[in-house]
Amino acid sequence: MPVKDNAKRLVFFEDWMDTSAAMKVFETVEDIQVQKLHYDARTEENYAAMSRTHGYQVQPRTELQIPWFPNSDLIERAPNLVAVSSAGAGFDYIDVAALTRAGIAVVNQTGTNKESVAEHALGMMLTVSKKMIQADRRIRREHNVDRWELIGTEMLGKKLGVVGIGQIGSRTAELCKLAFKMDIIAYDPYLTEEEINQRGAKKVDFSTLLAESDFITVHCPRTDETLGMFGAKEFKAMKKDAVFVITARGGIVNEPELASALASNDILGAGVDVFWEEPTSPDNCLMGLDNILVTPHHAGITIEANKNMAVGAAEQWITLLRGGVPPRLVNPDVWPDYQDRFEGIMGFRPSDYSKN
Ligand code: NAI
Repeated sequence: MPVKDNAKRLVFFEDWMDTSAAMKVFETVEDIQVQKLHYDARTEENYAAMSRTHGYQVQPRTELQIPWFPNSDLIERAPNLVAVSSAGAGFDYIDVAALTRAGIAVVNQTGTNKESVAEHALGMMLTVSKKMIQADRRIRREHNVDRWELIGTEMLGKKLGVVGIGQIGSRTAELCKLAFKMDIIAYDPYLTEEEINQRGAKKVDFSTLLAESDFITVHCPRTDETLGMFGAKEFKAMKKDAVFVITARGGIVNEPELASALASNDILGAGVDVFWEEPTSPDNCLMGLDNILVTPHHAGITIEANKNMAVGAAEQWITLLRGGVPPRLVNPDVWPDYQDRFEGIMGFRPSDYSKN
């Protein structure tokens, strides 16, 4: 498609979660020009595209390559950039502070993959509590597995502790309440008691959540505050038969300390979808243990979620590049500076900020 001189420009590398679904959204949109970039193109060519673009749709951390992480170095190469959009809900690999200082908006796709991640977390709780993962491994290598060594526990009526009860945490809580009549408690310092009650849970402090939960599921973002939130002390504070599940981000759990806790049966078992280093390797300290179910950060990777993320991001770009307030703005504080930057670059002023 020929590039119109006055078009709003948007770039992405290689793949947009469900590229054809995203491109379909732009098919009838004449004022936005979307360009696909390739990591193996000449770096100078990609920098030239970055210097022209108004928007940058970023790949997930696992696929994203250096030097295309949105940070202060990249901003210097992108004088026309007004906004950056993450592929999914997580945006910990985007330097939000640097972008905010430059007047650049950051948006994400929170909510678009909540069903997939919540179902994955629930699947992990079921699999671990029924010891299905140990049973599966043993039946493949032993004749006549002693099933009495694999006694599981039910979820019905148990207590679920949700850490971070946002989009995914709320849906996980809802599933557990509907299916298993679980009693839900939540630790989320950014929500009031009333907000947490509306999400079907009771607000508790972190130590109460650790001490009382039969199942713990983690759905907070990785931030300075949550890095290393779960280590030896926290696993010791949990019930001996607690099931710990994390689909949030690597680094929130100290992996060697989780491995020790699992090895000494401080807790019943764990489900882990996210790692400090991704893609993770078979040498990771958690891989040799039996009472853990591990998946390669694919809780949010389903046919439906990929499509929702792709379409959600594309629609949000149309709103944003036409001067509207994006529905999933990560850095609302940027707004006055963003309006100035956007106006200077695009020649018209975006709407005033309102939370939608
Ligand atoms: P969200 O923004 O709707 O919810 C996050 C919640 O965590 C908010 O309620 C927030 O107040 C709370 N929170 C923030 N700091 C906290 C802290 N220190 N302690 C406890 N709670 C805290 O985000 P959403 O969509 O529910 O996603 C949650 C996280 O799940 C994302 O940040 C992302 O890292 C992860 N994720 C993982 C996926 C996977 O494939 N494994 C896919 C999608 C998201």
